[in-house]
Amino acid sequence: KSVLVLHGPNLNLLGLREPHHYGADTLENIDTQLKQQAHAAGIAIETFQSNHEGMLIEKIHALAHQPVDFIIINPAAFTHTSVALRDALSAVKTPFIEVHLSNIYARESFRHHSYFSDLAVGVISGLGARGYSLALNYAITTITAA
Ligand code: DQA
Repeated sequence: KSVLVLHGPNLNLLGLREPHHYGADTLENIDTQLKQQAHAAGIAIETFQSNHEGMLIEKIHALAHQPVDFIIINPAAFTHTSVALRDALSAVKTPFIEVHLSNIYARESFRHHSYFSDLAVGVISGLGARGYSLALNYAITTITAA
């Protein structure tokens, strides 16, 4: 059983970037913690960050040949712009949880719309880095029960 964690643009700057919105954890801290959590449950995990829409799309297309059981994705700014990334997730049909560190509904109105939420199993927004861990907990319990 396996999980893929996808991080969108600018999330490589976590820790430095607007910590009042995104917290003090670096992406490396978050990924390390997720790997420990998955391995403790006997689940394989890969984490991938890109600032490029096409790279994220191609990572999703690759799942046609190497499927995973669950995706956790923070599409970052692509949340609000990318029909292409939405269509890629729709094509592979892998269940996914959408995670945002900040509460997108408490911020600018252009962040209130997501191209992903209606396709997602669920959405976690505003719980900081813990949101990823909670999403992974859900993914692990769901795929180990299946
Ligand atoms: C974000 C929220 C987005 O609006 C923003 O563009 C991001 C990060 C979050 O995790 O809170 O880059 O997805």
